Amino acid sequence: MTNLKVAEKKHLFINGRDVEADTYAPLYSPYSDEIIVEIAMADEQLTKEAIKTAQKAFQVISKMPAFERSAILEKMVELLKERADEAAEVIAIESAKPISFAKGEVSRTIETYKFAAEEAKRIHGETIPFDAAPGGVGRIGYTVRNPIGVIGAITPFNFPMNLVAHKVGPAIASGNTIVLKPASQTPLSALYIAELFKEAGLPDGVLNVVTGSGSVVGETIIKDDRVQMITFTGSPAVGIGIRNKAGLKKTTLELGSNAAVILDKDTNIDQVIDRCILGAFSNQGQVCISLQRVYAHEEVYDQFVEKFVKASKKLKVGNPLDPETYISSLISKKETERALSWIEEAKQNEAVVLAGGKLKDGILEPTVIVNVDPMLKVSCQEVFAPVVIVNKVKTVEEAIEYVNNSRYGLQAGVYTKNIDRALFATEALEVGAVMINDIPTFRVDHMPYGGVKESGTGREGIKYAVEEMTELKLVVWNRGEK
Ligand code: SIN
Repeated sequence: MTNLKVAEKKHLFINGRDVEADTYAPLYSPYSDEIIVEIAMADEQLTKEAIKTAQKAFQVISKMPAFERSAILEKMVELLKERADEAAEVIAIESAKPISFAKGEVSRTIETYKFAAEEAKRIHGETIPFDAAPGGVGRIGYTVRNPIGVIGAITPFNFPMNLVAHKVGPAIASGNTIVLKPASQTPLSALYIAELFKEAGLPDGVLNVVTGSGSVVGETIIKDDRVQMITFTGSPAVGIGIRNKAGLKKTTLELGSNAAVILDKDTNIDQVIDRCILGAFSNQGQVCISLQRVYAHEEVYDQFVEKFVKASKKLKVGNPLDPETYISSLISKKETERALSWIEEAKQNEAVVLAGGKLKDGILEPTVIVNVDPMLKVSCQEVFAPVVIVNKVKTVEEAIEYVNNSRYGLQAGVYTKNIDRALFATEALEVGAVMINDIPTFRVDHMPYGGVKESGTGREGIKYAVEEMTELKLVVWNRGEK
């Protein structure tokens, strides 16, 4: 299906080289079902070997000056720019992300590493005004930010390159080492990046990629005392499991959501359709901040539904390597079946499917459902598929109640020209970020990103991830006062 040359077998990447495992498992294309490659399945011993290597490499990277860490990340940016098309193909082949979106992901990955290169040079503490307390007179002091050690990174399939960058970039910028377990469905992007880092001059052992199952590789990383932090993006169920097992390790958890947008009565519908299409259907809806729920004011509801349904029916469904394709396969047949069963549940409960709701050549079409009870799965759970619900509301306040009536709280959007209602929404919405006059799916890679409730804890975005990945140390000098 492609001219990309992939090896028959892909090994583990430990201490800067390929390491064979005892067992390999086929990696299938989610689109064609063809075997792409045989992928190494690490056991507990090999995973521990990677942790030991990372622990040793910490002695090197933690002592490396900031300008050198920054230069390695800059070199990575250069290499990825040169190979952007090839990198996009890797993403498209293993994840069925349409190639135009895969190219977008590579551009974002380049930006993420660029931000990491810049951030490496500005990791600092602050001076403390000790004489603000009578007992502090005569002291001067400051904080420094130190790297913490080995970071266990567990990454998802939906952005297999950029969400790896969001963990690897700040870890290297701040002088830490990484043991990375990429999603079982998308290990190739992570291995590709590891090879580029070697070329960029990253010392051996700083980045280790250990492919295999969550129950073996993931569990081993989470439980190992030599690992100081777990940074995870994935489902709330797995995130909560990590939190329960991680003990005193730091944890950053980027979990799911059923993100919503509110359309106030003064919304110019023609101006929001394209953004809402992008928010709902890019990457087949497999985005933690995908637009899943639209609450439209009754004065604009009919107009929005008509135009949105029409636009969604025009999206091209097909092969991820076709530049015209907007929607391709979900990550697995199992996920497709699950999404279909949730749509069926909605249909059985008076919801009305106005577009999609069925398969075309095995691919779930972009699906728009109206009149949806909030208790139905397509509304209250994370659908992670090209499925969006549109419900009518009488006021922005009513819409906010619906948005907040959720286990999740990652990002939300509100379109309104009324400044009071906009301000009220920023205060009342229970989420990590509120977008005024935009969809909840907005993200650029240096902004703080993370949620409340079951959407997780901690923040990504390079500067914020660096804060999570460093420990604050206080230094106090006594100038001779008793
Ligand atoms: C995610 O799915 O959490 C990442 C979304 C993004 O980076 O745009």
